[in-house]
Amino acid sequence: MFTLRSVSAAGKRAFSTSSVAASKVAVLGAAGGIGQPLSLLLRLNEKVSNLALYDIRGAPGVAADVNHCDMNGEVAGFLPENNGLKETLTGAEIVVIPAGVPRKPGMTRDDLFNTNASIVRDLAKACAEFCPKAKILIIANPVNSTVPIVAEVFKKAGVYDPKKLFGVTTLDVVRANRFVSQIQGSDATKEKITVVGGHSGVTIVPLLSKTGYGISGEARDKLVNRIQFGGDEVVKAKDGAGSATLSMAHAGAKMTDALLRAAAGEQGVVEPTFVQSPLFADKGCEFFSSNVELGPEGVKKIHELGQIDEYEQKLIDACLADLQKNIAKGKKFVAEN
Ligand code: NAD
Ligand code: LMR
Repeated sequence: MFTLRSVSAAGKRAFSTSSVAASKVAVLGAAGGIGQPLSLLLRLNEKVSNLALYDIRGAPGVAADVNHCDMNGEVAGFLPENNGLKETLTGAEIVVIPAGVPRKPGMTRDDLFNTNASIVRDLAKACAEFCPKAKILIIANPVNSTVPIVAEVFKKAGVYDPKKLFGVTTLDVVRANRFVSQIQGSDATKEKITVVGGHSGVTIVPLLSKTGYGISGEARDKLVNRIQFGGDEVVKAKDGAGSATLSMAHAGAKMTDALLRAAAGEQGVVEPTFVQSPLFADKGCEFFSSNVELGPEGVKKIHELGQIDEYEQKLIDACLADLQKNIAKGKKFVAEN
């Protein structure tokens, strides 16, 4: 903790001093559908003392805009020129990456691989060079493959720390909380539904038996399907204009806040996230999302799934079959490119 005096992005005016932990957070893809609302939410987070926004287009405008919010701290926006990526990443403790193309109706997340794999690989190379100790949060799809891509890039650079790499699967839990609350008439803000696996279709596995609500039969089938394919609901409704952005920004900001709280010493911070995990490594799934306790260094403890029922075991089996292919595809891409 230290007393921070900071200046505006234009560097002209010092504003009030405040005692906050110094945390530089970078957003790569900050001018996009997710990037803009995510940048706003991070700007409103008092734990973020320095917000660095990067995109291949538009990031300085987003930075100038959110910089007018009556908050303390520094904000700056960068483009590729003038070493923009280096400036963005140097000193960053957390890097959130929503850079990449979104789905259109009829596409799977895996259909984004050909475009997004190289975007994420190149940004990961820059992170490995300029902020090798930062916590990296991957939003860009297909998360099941882009997270292994980042891991392989970091390994090649000799700076991989599995405790610091996170696939953001928070949106699956956010959706599950909301959908369950709509059925149960419960408070969505108090729900904490366990969702494990990966982040696409059948790899998303809600463990509804843990809710204690006794949801079964057709109601359970429908609910599981809605959680697994919640992304498609938004893609269809947006009708060609992209996929979830606002709920994703909320989810990304929530996950970032959890890491900042854990870094500040808060105990018992548990969030679901797709990390290198021992849970199903023997089944070819080196990465798996489950509830993870976070600490100052990132991953502190990966929670076991605990007791699951026969129905959920079948969901896990289907998940693992797809997930191991997605992970292998990401690793192969880095090996060959
Ligand atoms: P978008 O097209 O609106 O924004 C993407 C942004 O990335 C654009 O501003 C673009 O200029 C930027 N960009 C592209 N290449 C870049 C590069 N090399 N460096 C920096 N910036 C670059 O898309 P969106 O709706 O914001 O979605 C972004 C990604 O997030 C998609 O891949 C989407 O599938 C994914 N997504 C993930 C989740 C999740 O739960 N993990 C949820 C929603 C969307
Ligand atoms: C989501 O779950 O909303 C995202 O992964 C975007 C998508 O393609 O559905």
